[in-house]
Amino acid sequence: MSGKKMWGGRFRAATDSSVEDYTQSVSFDRRLYAEDIVGSKAHARMLARQGLLTAEEAETLVSGLDAVLAEIEAGTFAWDVALEDVHMNIERRLTDIVGPVGGKLHTGRSRNDQVALDFRLFVSGRVSAWTRELARLVEVLLARASEHENTLLPGCTHLQPAQPVSLAQHLLAYAWMFRRDAERLESFQTRIRVSPLGAAALAGTTYPLDPASVAAELGMTEIFGNSMDAVSDRDFALEALFGGSLVMMHLSRFCEELILWANPAFGYVRLPDAYSTGSSIMPQKKNPDVCELMRGKTGRVYGSLVSLLTLMKGLPLAYNRDMQEDKEPFLDADRTVSASVSIMADMLAEMTFVPEAMRRALSRGFLNATELADYLAARGLPFREAHHAAGSAVALAESRGCGLEDLSLEDLRGFSPLIENDVFEALRHETAVARRSTPGGTGPDSVRRQISAVSAWLAAKGWKAEP
Ligand code: ARG
Repeated sequence: MSGKKMWGGRFRAATDSSVEDYTQSVSFDRRLYAEDIVGSKAHARMLARQGLLTAEEAETLVSGLDAVLAEIEAGTFAWDVALEDVHMNIERRLTDIVGPVGGKLHTGRSRNDQVALDFRLFVSGRVSAWTRELARLVEVLLARASEHENTLLPGCTHLQPAQPVSLAQHLLAYAWMFRRDAERLESFQTRIRVSPLGAAALAGTTYPLDPASVAAELGMTEIFGNSMDAVSDRDFALEALFGGSLVMMHLSRFCEELILWANPAFGYVRLPDAYSTGSSIMPQKKNPDVCELMRGKTGRVYGSLVSLLTLMKGLPLAYNRDMQEDKEPFLDADRTVSASVSIMADMLAEMTFVPEAMRRALSRGFLNATELADYLAARGLPFREAHHAAGSAVALAESRGCGLEDLSLEDLRGFSPLIENDVFEALRHETAVARRSTPGGTGPDSVRRQISAVSAWLAAKGWKAEP
């Protein structure tokens, strides 16, 4: 007989042990113990306020739950797979400690609204941790960008040399991406922090509960509007996984660039030894493994998103046990997102950029061809003709194996008599960058405005930056 089971009343035979293993969730949902206990304490206090428990009973439950919390945190709590999940493990231990009054905790509550609450609190906490980690990454990006306002490198389109940009501009592109990610995650909180407690199994309850006061005690922004919806949707976790997927997508693009930049053919960056590994056969190797793994783990987080989307798509109202499968994908994604953002911040703070290598690369690829076309257009030549003249100059320089700036004034005037000696100033990469001071452009003025805007944002959020 299944004496242990808290739902064992109508059962004659014990659960098969393979089924116990198959159906248990305590091996992973025990991560939600703190949220479970906080929610139960709030529930117990509310039951007393509503006259459903005496004040002493509620006090007994609350201190019993604190004792359970202490055992779990001390590592002395004996988790039992036969008790299925975190909720029943905690409630059983509570009853061991406080006696039969422990059985009153579940008044007006079901594991269905309980697990929804726990998971919402947990996801909310993790999403705010990601947000703070992103803020730190943005801060490191700003710091590195400030060091490199005047470091120029080839900006690419199609991964081909296009126009010179500053390294600051390149790094700031990521600062803006991660800033948006942080804001996006923050915006999810209003929908995550909705309390489902009081929905009970699916239909609400006959007990005169006060869900709003529980929600307020838990710092939730509002309570559920419909009991069936409250216990059966996981859209809040899906939003978090989508937000996490975007974070990983941005990290992965950055990693891809760092991997290229670390290749000696580019040589723009030296990754810190602590974030690289060697080869067991090729002594010269220093591999960008952290970046590669971050790029690889991105797929894993997408996998979690798709797994939960797929899990939910065919579920009829209301709670279905399938939904227990919501936690592992989230926990896995959480581990990846959180570690990836932090490690990227640490690694970025320590990597060495190599301005000389970037400068050498600027001399290949005719990055100043647009400047020549703009120069001619500014002197009245229609841009299409100016483009053509500059293209012909590129062809000549290419045939001679030199840059546009290495052609003589006579050579250049062969393409247009509008060209004067001041063309050489226009062809300098520093000039090209400095002239792009339009909003959001790569010019040093614009770069400084971007740095102040993003650090002001960090400061306004209370996430520091700004001197
Ligand atoms: N372990 C379950 C889960 O994570 C808790 C809810 C169980 N509810 C139920 N009616 N069996 O989904």
